[in-house]
Amino acid sequence: MTETTAPMNTKGISIHELGVTFTPEGSEPVEALRPTSMEIEPGEFIALVGPSGCGKSTLLNVLAGFIKPSVGRALVGGDPITKPNIDHGMVFQDYALFPWLNVIDNVAFGLERQGMALAERHDRAREYLEMVGLKDFADKRVNELSGGMKQRVAIARVFATDPSIILMDEPFGALDALTRRFLQHQLLDIWQKNRKTVVFVTHSVQEAIYLASRVIVMTARPGRVKLDQTVDLPHPRDFASAEFRDYEKIIYDQLDEELAKTFKLEGGQGMFHD
Ligand SMILES: Nc1ncnc2c1ncn2[C@@H]1O[C@H](COP(=O)(O)OP(=O)(O)OP(=O)(O)O)[C@@H](O)[C@H]1O
Ligand SMILES: [Mg+2]
Repeated sequence: MTETTAPMNTKGISIHELGVTFTPEGSEPVEALRPTSMEIEPGEFIALVGPSGCGKSTLLNVLAGFIKPSVGRALVGGDPITKPNIDHGMVFQDYALFPWLNVIDNVAFGLERQGMALAERHDRAREYLEMVGLKDFADKRVNELSGGMKQRVAIARVFATDPSIILMDEPFGALDALTRRFLQHQLLDIWQKNRKTVVFVTHSVQEAIYLASRVIVMTARPGRVKLDQTVDLPHPRDFASAEFRDYEKIIYDQLDEELAKTFKLEGGQGMFHD
């Protein structure tokens, strides 16, 4: 695919004093997100890091339209998010592919809902399968693929529908280090060609700095923005460079305080000290 054919549909995200409290039947309410705000410009690549349980998936689910906020609001391209929307593409940690469809029909799935004819759907799906290095696997069943290949299909599927924002919840978390590194390269390559707005949740500070134009560190639950750090380094980034290490230090300093709170709350000890 060339840059000239790259779809340019991309929107910014505004989050205004957005909070989420879950009220499960028969148990205490859980404040997952404490009212927090952030502005994301069209085409930015945001990495979201924070302790387990701090509300990262909750925030992504609000942006995808799966969860309604308890207070505040979130806008995409200036419009309030009211319901799940294929224009807000989501890549899940566990791939979430359709096992009864072959690879090409998984990638083409959303295009049918957009009203595209079969031949055109398959052409588009092939283009994106090629982009993730899977053009020879179009006719395979999903269960014939490895985990890394499944995740590449999921990435192709979401980019093929030309969404205006892409939400990725620890998409590489289940993969081995080599596959992860390969997919980081591919994702960056696709993002540089498409310039979609990406919100990417990860547990890896390295991955966040390697990929993102801004890294947002969240507090322990109830989560809110603790640090909003622009990463001003050209791609490809060098993990071993002094500048990369400086960013790591800034982010770990903030994150460690929050991790300490999380593990103390849960009765952990010995890993962090005041
Ligand atoms: N549907 C739900 N009902 C009740 N509580 C929920 C629900 N979903 C999430 N929570 C709670 O909200 C908090 C935030 O959960 P969330 O999944 O957003 O965390 P996270 O930051 O994605 O964590 P992890 O890094 O482990 O994936 C947790 O305390 C969780 O137990
Ligand atoms: Mg999560």
